[in-house]
Amino acid sequence: MQAIWYERTGPAREVLIQGELPTPEAAPGEVLVRVHASGVNPSDCKSRGGSRPMAAPRVIPHSDGAGVITAVGAGVDAARVGERVWIWNGQWKRPFGTAAEYVALPAAQAVPLPENVSFAEGACLGIPALTALRAVMVDGGVIGQSVLVAGGAGAVGHYAIQFARLLGARQVIATVSSPAKAAHALAAGADAVVDYRSQDVAARVQELTGGCGVDRVIEVDLAANAGLLPRIIKQDGICVTYGSGAADITLGFFPMILSGAAIRFFIVYELSAEARAECEAVLDKLLREGRLQHAIAATLPLAECAAAHERVMGGQTMGNVVLTIP
Ligand SMILES: NC(=O)c1ccc[n+]([C@@H]2O[C@H](COP(=O)([O-])OP(=O)(O)OC[C@H]3O[C@@H](n4cnc5c(N)ncnc54)[C@H](OP(=O)(O)O)[C@@H]3O)[C@@H](O)[C@H]2O)c1
Repeated sequence: MQAIWYERTGPAREVLIQGELPTPEAAPGEVLVRVHASGVNPSDCKSRGGSRPMAAPRVIPHSDGAGVITAVGAGVDAARVGERVWIWNGQWKRPFGTAAEYVALPAAQAVPLPENVSFAEGACLGIPALTALRAVMVDGGVIGQSVLVAGGAGAVGHYAIQFARLLGARQVIATVSSPAKAAHALAAGADAVVDYRSQDVAARVQELTGGCGVDRVIEVDLAANAGLLPRIIKQDGICVTYGSGAADITLGFFPMILSGAAIRFFIVYELSAEARAECEAVLDKLLREGRLQHAIAATLPLAECAAAHERVMGGQTMGNVVLTIP
């Protein structure tokens, strides 16, 4: 099969190799998927760049993808052959991800993809959509809440705005950094946007919430924005964070303790089976009802994997970058 892999970490153009590898087989409990689209996420790029140890001497990158099941291993219902699926954790604690014509992985990691959702869209679900959905659903959900989505034009942020809206938030505010990103966040359903580079975010949030602050912040960069929390979160509110631009975070103890705020950390790769099942059920319903917008910033052929990684880490894209493997 055609695949992209790396045998050492470093800059995308230096370490990513394209070539032929043996097509894998579905082991017991696994399915073999012919991948049609491979989603590229910041986490895949950080792994390739060396932020964590390699899972094996040779790694095929990318956790997200979508395609069709072509074979099943022992113990898996043969009726699944031919099923359209989207993939999660393709390359997480496993060597071989979705940047290849085929991937073999545990059957539960290939989830039925509704007919009305394209393969490219399916390749955005494992990390961006599920992260956004978990951030909205965790700790009691958002019904009646005022929610601030930091980085509302990001791959995760764009879905978070939509899920907050669809799952009952009363008000959705997003931070952005340009007029184009503002338009993108508003089109996803945000009631208001705040340009965090040119505006006083705390003052604008207080104004937009009648001086109360928001019930929930969904935070993309906790290190950068931790100082804002006590000034934008309602008494006893919550910050759900899924990202940080720096390894260490500084929090003002006294402002935080006075606000009574909680901070919830999570990583989508390590969702419990129960949390994942809850999110998958809600996602499946919304997908089948055609209620979601998917922001695909670019689709590139598999051979342009290095360019895709550069785009994802370049900070200029609005939405997902997806490799197509027709
Ligand atoms: N915990 C998890 O499971 C999980 C899952 C998915 C992603 N992540 C992490 O979350 C981050 C975002 O992922 P993504 O795929 O959504 O990336 P993305 O598409 O690049 O989006 C990031 C967004 O955040 C904005 N942003 C950056 N710094 C900001 C700040 N200080 N305040 C407000 N907005 C800011 C960016 O816009 P501007 O630069 O224009 O401001 C951009 O719109 C990455 O670090 C990723 O590794 C974690």
